[in-house]
Amino acid sequence: MKLAIGNDHTAVDLKNTIKSHLEQRGVEVLDVGTNSTQSFDYPISGYKVGTLVASGEVDGGVLICGTGVGISLAANKVRGVRACVCSEPYTAALSKRHNNANIVAFGARVVGDEMAKLIVDSWLDATYEGGRHQRRVDLITKIEEGGAL
Ligand code: RB5
Repeated sequence: MKLAIGNDHTAVDLKNTIKSHLEQRGVEVLDVGTNSTQSFDYPISGYKVGTLVASGEVDGGVLICGTGVGISLAANKVRGVRACVCSEPYTAALSKRHNNANIVAFGARVVGDEMAKLIVDSWLDATYEGGRHQRRVDLITKIEEGGAL
């Protein structure tokens, strides 16, 4: 299992905490940065992780900015990305089980270290259920490809 992780300046410490946590789980982590606390434009990290996920170079991604919102919005502009902002583990699990989220995002200004670990673990441990959910995920893809519903 290989995951990409990216963040902005608000989330360097939390990124390193989550990176260590993932490595302790046996996950290989590709860190796209930033590793500086100087002001950093989150779309750059969102784009990098999004393209790594969409191309299949990694199995999924973790994105962290102040809220998780901006960085996930950026990643979701990459075709094939389904990035979900999660502030607790239930939504993180359902984002995989129902929405087949391939990136989990959260906010360093919103969740603490232990909640962030729970969110990541819940997302990683969940399995996409397919079935009726596939029809809905397919409809999302259709919108992404410019189709009308
Ligand atoms: C940076 O101040 C902040 O806007 C950013 O980390 C993020 O929360 C944006 O969505």
